[in-house]
Amino acid sequence: MSSVRSRGAFIVIEGLDRSGKTTQVATLQTRLETEGIPVKLFKFPDRTTTIGQMIDSYLRSQSELDDHVIHLLFSANRWELAASIEQLLAAGTTVLCDRYAFSGVAFSTAKGLSLEWCRSPDISLPAPDVTLFLNITPEQARSRGGYGEERYEKEELQRKVRDVFQQISSEFTEATWVTIDAGREREDVAEDVWKIVYPLTGGLAIPLQRLWE
Ligand code: TMP
Repeated sequence: MSSVRSRGAFIVIEGLDRSGKTTQVATLQTRLETEGIPVKLFKFPDRTTTIGQMIDSYLRSQSELDDHVIHLLFSANRWELAASIEQLLAAGTTVLCDRYAFSGVAFSTAKGLSLEWCRSPDISLPAPDVTLFLNITPEQARSRGGYGEERYEKEELQRKVRDVFQQISSEFTEATWVTIDAGREREDVAEDVWKIVYPLTGGLAIPLQRLWE
Protein backbone atom coordinates (compact mmCIF):
# COMPACT_ATOMS: atom_id res chain seq x y z
CA MET A 1 0.00 0.00 0.00
CA SER A 2 1.45 3.39 -0.93
CA SER A 3 1.58 6.09 1.70
CA VAL A 4 2.26 9.80 1.40
CA ARG A 5 5.31 10.90 3.35
CA SER A 6 4.81 13.70 5.80
CA ARG A 7 5.86 17.09 4.40
CA GLY A 8 6.08 20.70 5.48
CA ALA A 9 3.17 23.12 5.22
CA PHE A 10 3.07 25.81 2.57
CA ILE A 11 1.69 29.03 4.05
CA VAL A 12 1.07 32.17 2.03
CA ILE A 13 0.46 35.54 3.63
CA GLU A 14 -1.24 38.10 1.45
CA GLY A 15 -2.59 41.45 2.45
CA LEU A 16 -3.41 44.95 1.46
CA ASP A 17 -0.66 47.54 1.61
CA ARG A 18 -0.30 48.99 5.13
CA SER A 19 -1.90 45.85 6.60
CA GLY A 20 1.25 45.06 8.60
CA LYS A 21 1.94 41.98 6.50
CA THR A 22 5.72 42.21 6.58
CA THR A 23 5.77 42.62 10.38
CA GLN A 24 3.38 39.71 10.86
CA VAL A 25 5.41 37.43 8.60
CA ALA A 26 8.61 38.30 10.51
CA THR A 27 6.89 37.69 13.87
CA LEU A 28 5.58 34.35 12.67
CA GLN A 29 8.98 33.28 11.36
CA THR A 30 10.67 34.16 14.66
CA ARG A 31 8.04 32.33 16.68
CA LEU A 32 8.36 29.18 14.56
CA GLU A 33 12.16 29.29 14.90
CA THR A 34 11.85 29.72 18.66
CA GLU A 35 9.67 26.60 18.75
CA GLY A 36 12.39 24.71 16.86
CA ILE A 37 10.25 24.27 13.75
CA PRO A 38 12.30 24.31 10.50
CA VAL A 39 11.04 27.27 8.49
CA LYS A 40 12.05 29.15 5.35
CA LEU A 41 10.66 32.51 4.28
CA PHE A 42 10.21 33.53 0.64
CA LYS A 43 9.13 36.98 -0.42
CA PHE A 44 7.66 37.81 -3.82
CA PRO A 45 8.77 39.64 -5.77
CA ASP A 46 12.22 38.26 -4.97
CA ARG A 47 14.21 41.25 -6.20
CA THR A 48 17.59 39.47 -5.98
CA THR A 49 17.29 37.37 -9.14
CA THR A 50 17.87 38.69 -12.68
CA ILE A 51 14.11 38.72 -13.28
CA GLY A 52 13.59 40.26 -9.83
CA GLN A 53 15.93 43.11 -10.71
CA MET A 54 13.82 43.91 -13.79
CA ILE A 55 10.71 43.94 -11.58
CA ASP A 56 12.43 46.17 -9.03
CA SER A 57 13.44 48.66 -11.68
CA TYR A 58 9.84 48.75 -12.98
CA LEU A 59 8.32 49.20 -9.51
CA ARG A 60 10.66 52.10 -8.79
CA SER A 61 9.63 53.66 -12.15
CA GLN A 62 13.14 53.38 -13.52
CA SER A 63 11.88 51.41 -16.51
CA GLU A 64 8.63 51.08 -18.45
CA LEU A 65 7.09 47.73 -19.42
CA ASP A 66 3.84 46.66 -21.05
CA ASP A 67 1.31 45.48 -18.40
CA HIS A 68 1.36 41.94 -19.82
CA VAL A 69 5.14 41.80 -19.74
CA ILE A 70 5.46 42.83 -16.09
CA HIS A 71 2.72 40.37 -15.17
CA LEU A 72 4.64 37.54 -16.83
CA LEU A 73 7.87 38.61 -15.11
CA PHE A 74 6.18 38.46 -11.69
CA SER A 75 4.95 34.96 -12.55
CA ALA A 76 8.36 33.88 -13.89
CA ASN A 77 9.88 35.12 -10.63
CA ARG A 78 7.68 32.60 -8.79
CA TRP A 79 8.42 29.79 -11.22
CA GLU A 80 12.17 30.26 -10.83
CA LEU A 81 11.78 29.52 -7.10
CA ALA A 82 9.02 26.90 -7.31
CA ALA A 83 11.41 23.93 -7.35
CA SER A 84 13.18 25.21 -4.22
CA ILE A 85 9.84 25.59 -2.45
CA GLU A 86 8.86 22.03 -3.37
CA GLN A 87 12.19 20.60 -2.21
CA LEU A 88 11.94 22.36 1.15
CA LEU A 89 8.37 21.16 1.67
CA ALA A 90 9.36 17.59 0.79
CA ALA A 91 12.20 17.82 3.34
CA GLY A 92 9.67 18.74 6.04
CA THR A 93 10.36 22.48 6.20
CA THR A 94 7.47 24.88 6.77
CA VAL A 95 7.54 27.41 3.92
CA LEU A 96 6.21 30.93 4.48
CA CYS A 97 5.58 33.16 1.52
CA ASP A 98 5.10 36.92 1.76
CA ARG A 99 2.84 37.52 -1.30
CA TYR A 100 2.29 34.94 -4.06
CA ALA A 101 0.26 34.46 -7.22
CA PHE A 102 -2.80 36.10 -5.63
CA SER A 103 -1.00 39.44 -5.52
CA GLY A 104 -0.03 38.82 -9.13
CA VAL A 105 -3.64 38.39 -10.21
CA ALA A 106 -5.00 41.14 -7.93
CA PHE A 107 -2.65 43.90 -9.07
CA SER A 108 -2.66 43.14 -12.80
CA THR A 109 -6.45 42.67 -12.89
CA ALA A 110 -6.86 45.95 -10.99
CA LYS A 111 -4.79 47.59 -13.75
CA GLY A 112 -7.28 46.34 -16.35
CA LEU A 113 -6.10 42.94 -17.59
CA SER A 114 -8.58 40.06 -17.56
CA LEU A 115 -8.60 37.89 -14.46
CA GLU A 116 -8.52 34.68 -16.49
CA TRP A 117 -5.53 35.83 -18.50
CA CYS A 118 -3.73 36.90 -15.34
CA ARG A 119 -4.28 33.58 -13.67
CA SER A 120 -2.97 31.40 -16.49
CA PRO A 121 0.83 31.73 -16.10
CA ASP A 122 0.57 30.77 -12.41
CA ILE A 123 -1.52 27.63 -13.00
CA SER A 124 0.31 24.53 -11.63
CA LEU A 125 2.56 26.38 -9.19
CA PRO A 126 2.71 24.70 -5.76
CA ALA A 127 -0.60 25.54 -4.07
CA PRO A 128 -0.57 26.88 -0.52
CA ASP A 129 -2.12 24.73 2.19
CA VAL A 130 -3.53 27.94 3.60
CA THR A 131 -3.52 31.57 2.55
CA LEU A 132 -3.85 34.14 5.31
CA PHE A 133 -5.27 37.38 4.01
CA LEU A 134 -4.59 40.41 6.21
CA ASN A 135 -7.49 42.74 5.68
CA ILE A 136 -7.83 46.42 6.52
CA THR A 137 -10.28 49.05 5.35
CA PRO A 138 -9.08 51.81 3.00
CA GLU A 139 -9.73 54.23 5.89
CA GLN A 140 -7.45 52.25 8.23
CA ALA A 141 -4.78 52.14 5.53
CA ARG A 142 -4.98 55.91 5.17
CA SER A 143 -4.77 56.48 8.92
CA ARG A 144 -1.61 54.36 9.05
CA GLY A 145 0.33 56.99 7.16
CA GLY A 146 -0.61 56.74 3.51
CA TYR A 147 1.25 54.97 0.78
CA GLY A 148 4.89 55.06 -0.23
CA GLU A 149 6.75 55.93 -3.36
CA GLU A 150 6.39 52.80 -5.47
CA ARG A 151 4.33 52.51 -8.61
CA TYR A 152 1.24 50.73 -7.19
CA GLU A 153 1.01 52.60 -3.90
CA LYS A 154 -1.97 54.75 -4.84
CA GLU A 155 -5.33 54.72 -3.13
CA GLU A 156 -7.54 54.20 -6.18
CA LEU A 157 -5.55 51.21 -7.41
CA GLN A 158 -5.43 49.74 -3.90
CA ARG A 159 -9.25 49.88 -3.73
CA LYS A 160 -9.49 47.88 -6.96
CA VAL A 161 -6.85 45.43 -5.71
CA ARG A 162 -8.95 44.89 -2.60
CA ASP A 163 -12.02 44.02 -4.75
CA VAL A 164 -10.06 41.51 -6.85
CA PHE A 165 -8.65 39.83 -3.73
CA GLN A 166 -12.23 39.42 -2.55
CA GLN A 167 -13.18 37.86 -5.87
CA ILE A 168 -10.22 35.46 -5.73
CA SER A 169 -11.01 34.44 -2.14
CA SER A 170 -14.55 33.37 -3.05
CA GLU A 171 -13.13 30.38 -4.95
CA PHE A 172 -11.39 28.95 -1.89
CA THR A 173 -12.80 27.09 1.10
CA GLU A 174 -12.82 28.60 4.57
CA ALA A 175 -9.97 26.24 5.47
CA THR A 176 -7.68 27.27 2.63
CA TRP A 177 -8.29 31.05 2.59
CA VAL A 178 -8.56 32.76 5.96
CA THR A 179 -9.28 36.48 6.17
CA ILE A 180 -7.84 38.09 9.27
CA ASP A 181 -8.90 41.51 10.53
CA ALA A 182 -5.54 43.28 10.54
CA GLY A 183 -6.98 46.58 11.72
CA ARG A 184 -6.48 45.47 15.34
CA GLU A 185 -3.51 45.52 17.70
CA ARG A 186 -0.41 43.84 16.27
CA GLU A 187 -0.31 41.22 19.06
CA ASP A 188 -3.94 40.20 18.52
CA VAL A 189 -3.36 39.74 14.79
CA ALA A 190 -0.20 37.71 15.51
CA GLU A 191 -2.14 35.47 17.88
CA ASP A 192 -4.78 34.72 15.22
CA VAL A 193 -2.03 33.97 12.69
CA TRP A 194 -0.32 31.61 15.15
CA LYS A 195 -3.53 29.74 15.95
CA ILE A 196 -3.94 28.89 12.27
CA VAL A 197 -0.31 28.15 11.42
CA TYR A 198 0.93 26.19 14.43
CA PRO A 199 -1.38 23.16 13.97
CA LEU A 200 -0.03 22.78 10.41
CA THR A 201 3.60 22.54 11.45
CA GLY A 202 3.59 18.97 12.75
CA GLY A 203 3.90 17.49 9.22
CA LEU A 204 1.17 17.05 6.61
CA ALA A 205 0.34 13.66 5.10
CA ILE A 206 -1.63 15.05 2.15
CA PRO A 207 0.11 15.57 -1.22
CA LEU A 208 1.01 19.10 -2.29
CA GLN A 209 -1.69 20.51 -4.54
CA ARG A 210 -1.21 22.52 -7.76
CA LEU A 211 -2.59 26.02 -7.98
CA TRP A 212 -5.81 26.49 -9.94
CA GLU A 213 -5.77 22.98 -11.43
P1 TMP B 1 6.28 44.44 -2.11
O1 TMP B 1 5.95 45.84 -1.68
O2 TMP B 1 5.65 43.39 -1.25
O3 TMP B 1 7.75 44.23 -2.36
O4 TMP B 1 5.57 44.24 -3.53
C1 TMP B 1 5.86 45.10 -4.56
C2 TMP B 1 4.65 45.45 -5.39
O5 TMP B 1 4.46 44.47 -6.40
C3 TMP B 1 3.35 45.55 -4.61
O6 TMP B 1 2.71 46.76 -4.98
C4 TMP B 1 2.54 44.39 -5.10
C5 TMP B 1 3.07 44.14 -6.49
N1 TMP B 1 2.99 42.77 -7.01
C6 TMP B 1 2.42 42.55 -8.25
O7 TMP B 1 1.94 43.48 -8.90
N2 TMP B 1 2.42 41.28 -8.75
C7 TMP B 1 2.95 40.23 -8.08
O8 TMP B 1 2.93 39.09 -8.57
C8 TMP B 1 3.55 40.47 -6.77
C9 TMP B 1 4.15 39.34 -6.02
C10 TMP B 1 3.55 41.75 -6.29
